[in-house]
Amino acid sequence: MQSPFSDTELARLRADFPILSRTGRGGKPIVYLDAAATSQKPRSVIEAENCFYGNSNGAVHRGTHLLADESSQYFEDARCVLASFIGANPSEIVWTKNATEALNLVAYGLSNPGMDGGAPLIGKGDRVVTTRAEHHANLVPWQLLSQRTGCEFAYLDLDDEGRIDLETLDAITANTKVVAVTHASNVSGAITDIAPIIQAAHAVGAWVVLDTCQSSAHMPLDIKILGADFACFSGHKMAGPTGIGALYGRGELLEQLPPFLAGGSMIADVNMDKTTFQPVPERFEAGSQAVAQIHAWAVALDYLQKVGMERIRQHELFLTQYLLEGLTSVKGLRLLGPTDYRERVGLAAFDFFGIHPHDVGQVLDAADVAIRVGHHCALPLHAHYGLRSSCRASLSLTSSREDIDRLIDGLETVRSFFKRGE
Ligand code: ALA
Repeated sequence: MQSPFSDTELARLRADFPILSRTGRGGKPIVYLDAAATSQKPRSVIEAENCFYGNSNGAVHRGTHLLADESSQYFEDARCVLASFIGANPSEIVWTKNATEALNLVAYGLSNPGMDGGAPLIGKGDRVVTTRAEHHANLVPWQLLSQRTGCEFAYLDLDDEGRIDLETLDAITANTKVVAVTHASNVSGAITDIAPIIQAAHAVGAWVVLDTCQSSAHMPLDIKILGADFACFSGHKMAGPTGIGALYGRGELLEQLPPFLAGGSMIADVNMDKTTFQPVPERFEAGSQAVAQIHAWAVALDYLQKVGMERIRQHELFLTQYLLEGLTSVKGLRLLGPTDYRERVGLAAFDFFGIHPHDVGQVLDAADVAIRVGHHCALPLHAHYGLRSSCRASLSLTSSREDIDRLIDGLETVRSFFKRGE
């Protein structure tokens, strides 16, 4: 296959990202292959945050002066931008600090007293189901929910290539209230076959919580077509700033969910003996919000839309094929995840001769190639492969074949440095 980006277009896109012209410790331009951990930002995003502080900074929904008005407008406009990006209604978007907070919001909302002040929505006799493919953000909150409420905790397991094994769908039992699942794994790269999981969950009336951290910046995503009930989003993985994320919640279900964080802005009225709450989404947005970051994230989403999400997917798919071909040609390298590039997002984790991933990462860094090393916040998934950690290269819309060539060359340097395979 071919990339939809011509060399000229790719060069132009790369020029939009100032950090890509930075040199590393070895004196060469940094090859950034760590977009799955955090994406780099185009100039327009960096400038948007700066411009907001220089011109419009004011407290949102807390004043009548011009700056408060302008800030509130940016804040609500951004909600519309994200809603349109994922095919939702603006009232179904809740701002959070990050994707982790979005997932915790649902988990804590379920175990807090109900909206009528009565029993929580989940308790003993109920079940929450997740999967072994999750990073800790979509695993630990559900374990803790089980500990807080006494509900059962169960999970879908993986097949040999690291895909969620649909043979284990029977973990979704009649008493299941939540199924929390990743859209794409941050270690195996496998894109989840989400439809049968959603079908099994909805058949027993369970809510599906989808983690889009590794998909939403890399492919078109329409949340209503996918059919998830809740979904979390990470701003900094979508070319936006750090410190901002979002929760999507299907309107009628978000209405049922009790608040998580409490404080200013989420209340309708407060007396010393009773508090009533704002309607959604404000009910979930306690305290001052990250307005500059939210505004800059909307600029990032505009940028991604202008490039085109389907074109980004095709470019990254083309490079995923190139990356897998390159990695599988390297002696001593064990690739984790499906071997068919079409089943993946643009990332590849691997073990290299059993060399400690931190050592691999350090030698690659000396060659100015940046990858992620460690357990990638996914220890149970690594345990599936009999590993504690791995190396991971991940792609973005600005990645190129030359980046991957530099990685493959760097791995040869690692091999010769550690005298393996000689
Ligand atoms: N889950 C993020 C990653 O894979 C942090 O790097």
